[in-house]
Amino acid sequence: MIDDLRGFLDALKERGKFREVNNADWDLEIGTINELMAERQGPALLFDNIEGYPQGFRVATNLMHHRVGQKLAFGFPEEMNDLECVADWKDKWNKFQPVPPVEVKDGPIKENILKGDDIDIYKFPTPKWHTHDGGRYIGTGVITITRDPEQGWVNVGTYRVMIQDKTTLAFYASPGKHATIMREKYWAIGKPCPVAMCFGQDPLLFALSTIALPWGISEYDMAGYIKGKGVEVIIDDETKLPIPATAEIVACGFSPPPQEDSREEGPFGEWQGYYASGTRNEPVVCIKTLYYRNDPILFGQPPVKPPVNTWFPIPIHTATFLWNELEKAGMMDIKGVYVHGPGNRIIAVISLKQRYLGHAKQIATLAGAFLQGGACTGRYIITVDEDIDPSNLDEVLWAVCTRCDPEKYINIVPGFLTSPLDPMLDPEKRAKKDFTTGKVFINACKPYHWKDKFPPVNVASPELREKVLSKWSELFKDV
Ligand SMILES: Cc1cc2nc3c(=O)[nH]c(=O)nc-3n(C[C@H](O)[C@H](O)[C@H](O)COP(=O)(O)O)c2cc1C
Repeated sequence: MIDDLRGFLDALKERGKFREVNNADWDLEIGTINELMAERQGPALLFDNIEGYPQGFRVATNLMHHRVGQKLAFGFPEEMNDLECVADWKDKWNKFQPVPPVEVKDGPIKENILKGDDIDIYKFPTPKWHTHDGGRYIGTGVITITRDPEQGWVNVGTYRVMIQDKTTLAFYASPGKHATIMREKYWAIGKPCPVAMCFGQDPLLFALSTIALPWGISEYDMAGYIKGKGVEVIIDDETKLPIPATAEIVACGFSPPPQEDSREEGPFGEWQGYYASGTRNEPVVCIKTLYYRNDPILFGQPPVKPPVNTWFPIPIHTATFLWNELEKAGMMDIKGVYVHGPGNRIIAVISLKQRYLGHAKQIATLAGAFLQGGACTGRYIITVDEDIDPSNLDEVLWAVCTRCDPEKYINIVPGFLTSPLDPMLDPEKRAKKDFTTGKVFINACKPYHWKDKFPPVNVASPELREKVLSKWSELFKDV
């Protein structure tokens, strides 16, 4: 499997999914090129000779917006379809055995090490991505590494990072995220939280860093398990945190309690397609050591307005988790789970073979409770019968339009967690920090008590289709 960002770019190049760009400006031009290319489902981009920066200080974007990039990053065979990828990941996850990282003394990330007055984060051509961004966001394709002060395990999570000055970064991690919990534990005992931020790395580590693994499970151990060998890490002298030996750029430092230092963060063009959370004071990291490889590549994964999916097109981060949780709760005969909408977080679809009265309702209610964390997550929960492919939104809509009487089978339940990034929080709720939303439960399964009398579906039987297809194979060739 691929071990670093350079290997990933080479693999994309081999598949014709790569283009180099010279002489673009970091100030909105790179961001807009990325937006236009993402809208067109275009290739990965590697920017070099960026205005005002020396050759070799590069920026890579648009790497995972398409299925080729995601499948390479996660190690899925290219021929697998979306629902098969979700099922495959679910299976891997259920067999998970931690493979811890391996400590090494040296690695490419140590090619350049800056400390003290030499530290200058502006060394890298960080784009201003979107017109109304409050500053330059170096952390969009970032992984942030923290250690729990009580239990000692290491978390790796993606939380956006804005440059404040040469040696200071602000980071936004929303309530309940693992780094949020860890940093608050340090602050509660009056200590600054050690933090390492990595701005270009192995795509699998990045992918895992955006997935909510359960508390106590390190993304490093999961990456080792998927790869079949431990990730090579170097221990940073000051923070004692493990950093990937093949990373591109790493800033290590400490996050003081917010009462000592916090800075204005935002606005930022967010994944729901708005600048919803505005500007707030957020915690900072004071950089103590800055590492980078020769000819470093800053990895950018900024949001682009939906329907462009700036995360991963296949929702293994949400659908796999939800499917597993439902099965762990004893729910039987689930045929497939998929999550659609911006960020693959908002519209959950569960297909099931109804076994008893209330089966679909029970599954939907649990799904609404399980799928949370982040703005608008799981706002719509749809249950469909087993003949509907949950990954095919057109089929799902057919079921919603024809198997659901809104008067009886749509319910709205208030009071679920959303986040400050939710554009539908009215000013009054926002001021009260009431970050809650209603959820809509749509039961688009045939009504259980008369499902056997439901009008038959107008489609030829599988046997008839097979027979006709084999007799008329010439007619259907290349169609
Ligand atoms: C590209 C991208 C950017 C993200 N940015 C943020 C962010 O700025 N703040 C945040 O709290 N979560 C963000 N997330 C979601 C978290 O990365 C995700 O919830 C992850 O599970 C967090 O790690 P944790 O579970 O270890 O806390 C982002 C996800 C992606 C894919």
